[in-house]
Amino acid sequence: MGNFLAGKVVAVTGAGRGIGRAVALAAAAEGARVVVNDYGVSVEGASPTSEVAEAVVKEIESAGGEAVAVADDISTMAGGQRVVDVAMASYGRIDGVVCVAGILRERMLFNMTEEEWDPVVATHLKGTFTVFRAASAVMRKQRAGTLIGFTSGNHQGSVSQANYSAAKGGIISLVRSAALGLNRYGVTANAVAPVARTRMSAGVPMELTEIGEPEDVAALVVYLLSDGAAEQGITGQVYTVAGPKIAVWAQPRELRSAYAVGGWTPERIAEVLPGSVGVDPMPMLERVREMRRAAAEGARPNA
Ligand SMILES: NC(=O)c1ccc[n+]([C@@H]2O[C@H](COP(=O)([O-])OP(=O)(O)OC[C@H]3O[C@@H](n4cnc5c(N)ncnc54)[C@H](O)[C@@H]3O)[C@@H](O)[C@H]2O)c1
Repeated sequence: MGNFLAGKVVAVTGAGRGIGRAVALAAAAEGARVVVNDYGVSVEGASPTSEVAEAVVKEIESAGGEAVAVADDISTMAGGQRVVDVAMASYGRIDGVVCVAGILRERMLFNMTEEEWDPVVATHLKGTFTVFRAASAVMRKQRAGTLIGFTSGNHQGSVSQANYSAAKGGIISLVRSAALGLNRYGVTANAVAPVARTRMSAGVPMELTEIGEPEDVAALVVYLLSDGAAEQGITGQVYTVAGPKIAVWAQPRELRSAYAVGGWTPERIAEVLPGSVGVDPMPMLERVREMRRAAAEGARPNA
């Protein structure tokens, strides 16, 4: 047991399994009292059960830690609010929230239904908003706190998970907005893009060359929740963690520009844009092409 989070109260959504569970256990081992939220659903988001969150609370307690279970659905405003309310009622404060809960409903864009789009966006993006919303109202008054969202390398785009990719891109913008809006109150916000062996990553139809365990992700999250990270001014960042690797993503910025004297016309744009503004090649598109080539040759593609 370390003391990175001694005295802190941390709520983790999706904490019943996989990465969320590892984060909850690690936070408790580092001295935090933990709200363990999990709706207890399948990878697709079906068949909820409260046993999943309760089992992790028991694990924390038998290791000598303190935790409380919340089995609500964080894609509802009431669910997100309850996570924070239970922290306040049980422990009197909330120092960190970690929004890990997620589901997958994979389908090519041209076949995707509303039932495949809405719950995925609701669980990831709205489910991060509901908890950030409730927690930030308390943290603003406390003048301290840490918000952590979970994104994915797939925020760059995805062949068969446009719903998931769009939600993960939205989480990055939500985190950056929280970092900007709450900076004056001493509250930080960051995003983590993990690659770890869980039931969710087991379904990926390719060989992941850089992958680690949920515990690797938990170590990064513990650091981001600690006072040390806030003292370093870490906010508005996106970190990948994949086994032994941690990487920071670039902030989006304009790459090249051109100005028209007297306004643009389609003809003037056709003349200027290809040569002087140009394109920024999409790394994922090259990988998708490579994977298609490998698949055509009968190999299991790497990613
Ligand atoms: N595993 C990876 O390699 C990987 C890669 C990129 C991103 N991620 C992201 O990391 C997070 C955790 O993924 P994981 O691999 O541990 O998945 P997992 O399926 O093992 O765990 C997700 C947990 O979220 C819970 N959950 C789902 N909907 C919920 C809801 N509405 N309210 C509360 N809880 C809910 C589930 O019951 C489950 O226990 C997800 O956001 C995922 O998108 C994972």
